[in-house]
Amino acid sequence: MSTSLPFSQSCENNKDPILDVLIRHFTLAGNVLEIAGGTGQHAEYFATHLPFLQWQSSDIPENFASLNLRIAAADLINLPLAIALDVTQSDWGVEEIDYVFSANSLHIMPATAVVDFFSHMNDVLVPGGILCVYGPFKYGGEFTTSSNANFDVWLKNRNPLSGVRDFEAVNALAKSAGLTLLEDNAMPANNQLLVWQKL
Ligand SMILES: C[S@@+](CC[C@H](N)C(=O)[O-])C[C@H]1O[C@@H](n2cnc3c(N)ncnc32)[C@H](O)[C@@H]1O
Repeated sequence: MSTSLPFSQSCENNKDPILDVLIRHFTLAGNVLEIAGGTGQHAEYFATHLPFLQWQSSDIPENFASLNLRIAAADLINLPLAIALDVTQSDWGVEEIDYVFSANSLHIMPATAVVDFFSHMNDVLVPGGILCVYGPFKYGGEFTTSSNANFDVWLKNRNPLSGVRDFEAVNALAKSAGLTLLEDNAMPANNQLLVWQKL
C-alpha cells in the first residue's frame, strides 16, 4: 500500500517560474535553507534541477514530519531530511548558509514572526548570501489585484494574524538585517519573487 504524499497544485504551477529565477541567483555550489517547506514539492524539484546545491528544507515542528514523507520518498543525495524550524525560535540551529528560500510563508505567519524571519538573516547568511522570498505583496498599501485583496480577507478569516504583507515594510526589515534588494520579479498568479543579497 502506498502512502499518499502531501501535495499542492499551486506548487506544481509555480515551480518552473520560480526555478527560472533561482537558477540566475543560486549559481554556485553551496547550501540552501528552505523555510516553511510545506509539501516538499519545491524542495524535491529544486534539489533535482539544481544538483550542485545541498537543499536543507525545514518547517515548524507540527509540519516537518509530513514534509519528510516526500523528502524521504525523493531519496536525493543533495536533499537531507527536513529539520524542525519555527522562525520565532531564538536559535535556528543553522549558520553559514549561502542561500535562503521561502515560498508562501510571510502571509501565513503573524507579522511578529515576519520580523523574526528577517532578524535572523544577518546571522545565518554568509556575506554575499542570497535570500529569495516568493508570495503576494501589497505596494503603497494597495493590493496588486482584487484577487489578492480577496485572498487577504480569506487569510484573515482563517487566522486574524495572517495577511498579505507590505513590500515596503518587508524590504525595510530586510535592510535592517543588512540585505540589499536585487530584484522584484512579477510572477504568475499575482505573486512576486523578491531577491536580496547580504553584501
Ligand atoms: C501556505 S504554506 C506554504 C508551503 C510551501 N512553501 C508552498 O509554497 O507551498 C505556509 C507554510 O508556512 C509554515 N509556517 C507557518 N508559520 C511558520 C513559522 N513561524 N516558522 C516557519 N514556518 C512557518 C507552515 O507550516 C506552512 O508550511
